[in-house]
Amino acid sequence: MHHSSLRLLLVNSAKAFLVPLCFSSVVFAQSAAILEGDSAIPLQNSQGMVVTSHTLASTVAREVLAEGGNAIDAAVTAGFALAVTQPRSGNIGGGGFMLISRSTPDEVVAIDYRETAPAKAHRDMFLDESGAVDSQRSRFSHLSVGVPGTVAGLLMALDKYGTIRRERALAPAIKLAEEGFIVPPRFTKGLESVKDRLQKSPASRSTFYKFDGSAYQPGERFIQPELAATLKRISEQGRDGFYLGETARLLAEEMAANDGIMTEEDISNYQPKIRKPVQGNYRGYNIYSMPPPSSGGIHIVQILNILEGYPIGSFGHNSAKTIHLMAEAMKRAYADRATYLGDSDFVKVPVTGLISKEYAAELRKSINTTRATPSQEISAGLPSAYESNETTHFSVADKYGNVVANTYTINFSYGSGITVKGAGFLLNNQMDDFSAKPGTANAYGLTGAEANSIAGNKRMLSSMSPSIVKYQGKNLLVTGSPGGSRIITTTLQVIMNVIDHGLNIQEAVNAPRIHHQWLPDSIRIEQGISPDTQQLLESMGHKIELKSAMGASQSIYIDPMGGFQGAADPRRSTSSAQGL
Ligand code: GLY
Repeated sequence: MHHSSLRLLLVNSAKAFLVPLCFSSVVFAQSAAILEGDSAIPLQNSQGMVVTSHTLASTVAREVLAEGGNAIDAAVTAGFALAVTQPRSGNIGGGGFMLISRSTPDEVVAIDYRETAPAKAHRDMFLDESGAVDSQRSRFSHLSVGVPGTVAGLLMALDKYGTIRRERALAPAIKLAEEGFIVPPRFTKGLESVKDRLQKSPASRSTFYKFDGSAYQPGERFIQPELAATLKRISEQGRDGFYLGETARLLAEEMAANDGIMTEEDISNYQPKIRKPVQGNYRGYNIYSMPPPSSGGIHIVQILNILEGYPIGSFGHNSAKTIHLMAEAMKRAYADRATYLGDSDFVKVPVTGLISKEYAAELRKSINTTRATPSQEISAGLPSAYESNETTHFSVADKYGNVVANTYTINFSYGSGITVKGAGFLLNNQMDDFSAKPGTANAYGLTGAEANSIAGNKRMLSSMSPSIVKYQGKNLLVTGSPGGSRIITTTLQVIMNVIDHGLNIQEAVNAPRIHHQWLPDSIRIEQGISPDTQQLLESMGHKIELKSAMGASQSIYIDPMGGFQGAADPRRSTSSAQGL
């Protein structure tokens, strides 16, 4: 769509309240957001914008922008602050991906700070004597933990592209850990829901619960002195404050005392990597997203390429026809994901083929526009024929023309549930994102093949998709989401809602979502897809499953006429868009 019409739709931000917020989880989240003083209103500002899943992280990052810092400075500050205020997914014990679009020089770069498997990791490490996957070990034991990448990744971003001192970026996080913060209801609910799992780790119990084992209640102050000390070491010594010395020793000791295989050498060897983003073009808009070891960018571009052959805008937002075509495109992309995707430093991923328009046209031919193709009749395609050669997302934009899309995670909410004794931070269980046994599903129901098998120093496949859309050379949209396998389709729909359906950014974020991942063969929907539409889809042969809300897309729209519009996702009660 053209920007003149897009702009018309964006003039009245109050329109955001007209979206069909008829699904209960969102209604609750929206009212909770208001109670906690947050904003689900698309803010329009011209100096900068921060949208994160936690008010305090948005506030401290906004302060950095107000002092003249750039989007990278603010993003790194938010990343460390979330590690304190939102232990379920904000982290220093996990990893992620940061996509940066810079104004000078004009370039888009991707920082891969995904965890790596320890050197001693091997293909069959999660199989029991009978050859079956032992998911207790792959998800909740010390073997489930990949070497954390977050600290190295955030510091690399700051060193290469930031302007503020490391100490400034870490100061708010240290203060929040040392002096504490007042916990919101979401914090309490989250920790109460995982109490049994977390309290198996003595350090998790003493860090996140009161002496009597109960969770901190809304309105109470929560302090983390051990995490504050760990953050101070990072502030003072940089990456050495985490990957060498006291913190590395504490982490290696935690592993050695609990049958883990991660060593001090694995920790000191960790390196983030600068990668070239995956790039696609959809109806004249340039799409930038994460390359392997994430599958996100490839499949967003692949699905968009397939859908480009249909007049989606005229079929209507979330109409049965639109959802049918989206589901058919998603199935085919996720079938390819299961076969081809893995760490491209270890296996050859046919990126060029998968994101080519020719391959999309081939896949489109296999789609019946009125009938669902059963997933068992779909297998991975042959993209090489065209080969020419619980997570959290935040978005930041500054007045200098830079934007940052960052998604990082410890995999499950609260990761492995294991806290490093003496260091006060939770560890990821990202090793479960490898394919422990080809053909056997992981926690997200995703199957994988040899390309994503376990090997020492390899990075496990991700779905994280921090994404940036540019139009006529200018940043237009900054987006991404948590949600495991649903990350790709959530991010896709925010992009389509803006480009195909002309929704304003808050509408695009709020709108009910759908998801298909090939296996299981069903369209997962949120509340808010009309019963008539569901019936039409069923009559086309689709199975529909209504489940809880998907994703939390903290997004920014940059109005080509001027101004930043931030949309906090009401699916998270602490989400917060703050502009200046
Ligand atoms: N742990 C979820 C992902 O990286 O996709």
